[in-house]
Amino acid sequence: MSSSRYAAITGWGMAVPQQVVTNDDLAQRIDTSDEWIRSRTGIAERRIAGPGEFTSTLATAAGREAIERAGLSPSDIDMVIVATCTPDRPFPATACAVQANLGIKRAPAFDIAAACSGFLYGMSVGTSMIQSGASRTLLLIAADIFTHLIDWNDRNTCVLFGDGAGAVVLQATEQPLGLISAQIGAAGEGETMMAVDAGGTRMPATPDLLDQGKQYVYMNGREIFKHAVREMCDSAKQAVAEAGLSLDDIRLVIPHQANVRIIDAVAKRLEISMDRVVVNLDRYGNTSAASVPIALYEAVQQGRVRDGDYLLLTAFGGGLTWGSSVIRWGRP
Ligand code: UT7
Repeated sequence: MSSSRYAAITGWGMAVPQQVVTNDDLAQRIDTSDEWIRSRTGIAERRIAGPGEFTSTLATAAGREAIERAGLSPSDIDMVIVATCTPDRPFPATACAVQANLGIKRAPAFDIAAACSGFLYGMSVGTSMIQSGASRTLLLIAADIFTHLIDWNDRNTCVLFGDGAGAVVLQATEQPLGLISAQIGAAGEGETMMAVDAGGTRMPATPDLLDQGKQYVYMNGREIFKHAVREMCDSAKQAVAEAGLSLDDIRLVIPHQANVRIIDAVAKRLEISMDRVVVNLDRYGNTSAASVPIALYEAVQQGRVRDGDYLLLTAFGGGLTWGSSVIRWGRP
């Protein structure tokens, strides 16, 4: 296959579970309040996966919509990437289940594990695949179901997360569209600032470990907060500079939706007013890798994005990982 310089976003999709859980619902079960959750995080409600809903089912629904919006059929897709850190199974890759669900024959399918930065990592990898000529029409999905890894008695974590999936179709083009610049990075020394300990090769899940709750996510929220603001700002500035632009050229900032106070702090440091920043975590909570493509999807559907617009995507998550990208919107 011939290589192309750019990978335009030609389709977009999203999927969230039906079940809505409000802050008041949580306050009936644990020692928390709507007031605390709203003021400390900005979250009002979140979607929680029910029986029969898992990462591949949400990913498949989002992917199917993205393919339809691109005016394509599954047989046109030549590569499937799923960004997730909550796969259906430890192995094989969730992307293989999605590929089978969508009836995409023989196309390579693999996962990327970069936690909440997964979509940013996926955009870089997917675009590189197109630039190398390995793919011409690629499906990138970011999907996470964190609520299955949560201790519902731990108020430090259970109020924060929601489930969801967002997807894009990337297509080869010579026009300057899609990913214009990308800054992704990691600080592995922070790997236990946010983690799930049991279930991997380091600590295979045993009844004893399950009794201790080692299968649940834990995090040092305060430390992650500080790192998130710094790395999102630094990488965002670098991505904008690498694109040869200034922040004034950016129509919308689409940040990872973990905490509205993180988003406020990033916007303030970048000197971008909040009317140019997409915020939807009040309705979904932190959907991990899915948060950026879901926010992108909603901004597009609400008419906030026009052809030719430059968008700044930025995220931070477990790993520690981060990424910022400038995207130029429009179909070839
Ligand atoms: O997705 C990417 C990775 N994750 C993040 O980006 C998350 C980053 N961190 C955060 O968003 C915030 O740190 C949190 C929302 C997790 C916590 O907010 P905070 O302002 O840093 O609160 P804190 O952890 O310092 O806790 C303040 C107090 C504590 O009580 P004491 O020790 O001061 O008496 C907590 O026990 O709030 C208490 N608290 C709660 N109270 C009511 C913690 N969770 C709750 C809760 N309801 N759900």
